[in-house]
Amino acid sequence: MTNLGRLYPLLDDVQLPDTIPYSQVSSWELRFLYLLGRHHLRGEGRLVELGSGGGGSTYALALGLKESPVFDERTGRLHAYDFFRVGKGTFATEKFFTSGAKPQDDNSFLNDFRDRLAPFLPFLEIHAGDLWRTSDPHDTSAVEFLHIDIAKTARVFRCVTERFLTRLVPGSVVLHQDFAGPRLPWLHHSTGALLPYIEIAGPPIRSTLAFEVVRPIPEDVLKRIAEDAYTVDEKLELIAAVQERIDRDHTGGIPFRPVLEFAKAYVAHYEGDHKRAWSIAKPLTSDEYLSRTRADHFEQLRKAYEQDRAAHGGGSRLGRLVKKAVGR
Ligand SMILES: C[S@@+](CC[C@H](N)C(=O)[O-])C[C@H]1O[C@@H](n2cnc3c(N)ncnc32)[C@H](O)[C@@H]1O
Repeated sequence: MTNLGRLYPLLDDVQLPDTIPYSQVSSWELRFLYLLGRHHLRGEGRLVELGSGGGGSTYALALGLKESPVFDERTGRLHAYDFFRVGKGTFATEKFFTSGAKPQDDNSFLNDFRDRLAPFLPFLEIHAGDLWRTSDPHDTSAVEFLHIDIAKTARVFRCVTERFLTRLVPGSVVLHQDFAGPRLPWLHHSTGALLPYIEIAGPPIRSTLAFEVVRPIPEDVLKRIAEDAYTVDEKLELIAAVQERIDRDHTGGIPFRPVLEFAKAYVAHYEGDHKRAWSIAKPLTSDEYLSRTRADHFEQLRKAYEQDRAAHGGGSRLGRLVKKAVGR
């Protein structure tokens, strides 16, 4: 059993209070966050949550820390990063307001967040605004814990890599909350690149993949991840390596192998190779889970492929060459 794996058998018995704020993450993931705070983290390095939203995930982790016999509230710090406001491009929802809807004259839910997290404010440091602005490029302090629920775009993931992954040391714990999201393939191929230096905790917990760093991560590996310096083929191989390590999630509901196969299609899609993207995605349309949950993704890739084909005169490359040769 892995070091973090010892928390899995405790999941069923965690009872979180009703006071926990609305969260976009599942109750399984909230319970795992609680267990990490209660039984694993020490608070000697930075504890960082990227993408706190309305505070559901923050609350679960903070509650665990508060009940921990080793976390010292006077010295330990939990850092919460988020826009704490709704608006175009924030990926935040109006449900993060206590009332469940945005007031007419205010787009910030920061005060609601503070109110809900009141019991933990003595050890909570809130960083409100765009991560590129609120994170410190010169901070090299070790990160003991990193909850990543913010890397919805490659641009934000670059910030996560440059400013947080570079601060991981052996013993650091990372949680990728969006691991079941095929549209975020940077989470998957970067994890593939880190495989020699990490120990995956066990099956993902719903959408969350957890791992512990077990060896120092070489600087050049982090640089390549941050600079997105892998070729498409390399990225596909890195994702394939992760596919070999994980299968169904802990609850049995999410089959990660096809999910990661779909992520490969998005690698090609983002590179503008829509034909290759669709050739990877099309066979997955018969997957029960993906067809049920990701119909919009298939539609996006199919449409991009068809538009591309139409723009280039349709047919295969060979077909186009033949047409050209016969002058049609
Ligand atoms: C899925 S939500 C977080 C959900 C939360 N962990 C929970 O328990 O419900 C993602 C959050 O990332 C934040 N976010 C996305 N991009 C960001 C950025 N560049 N800077 C700061 N926050 C960002 C959004 O404001 C949003 O609240």
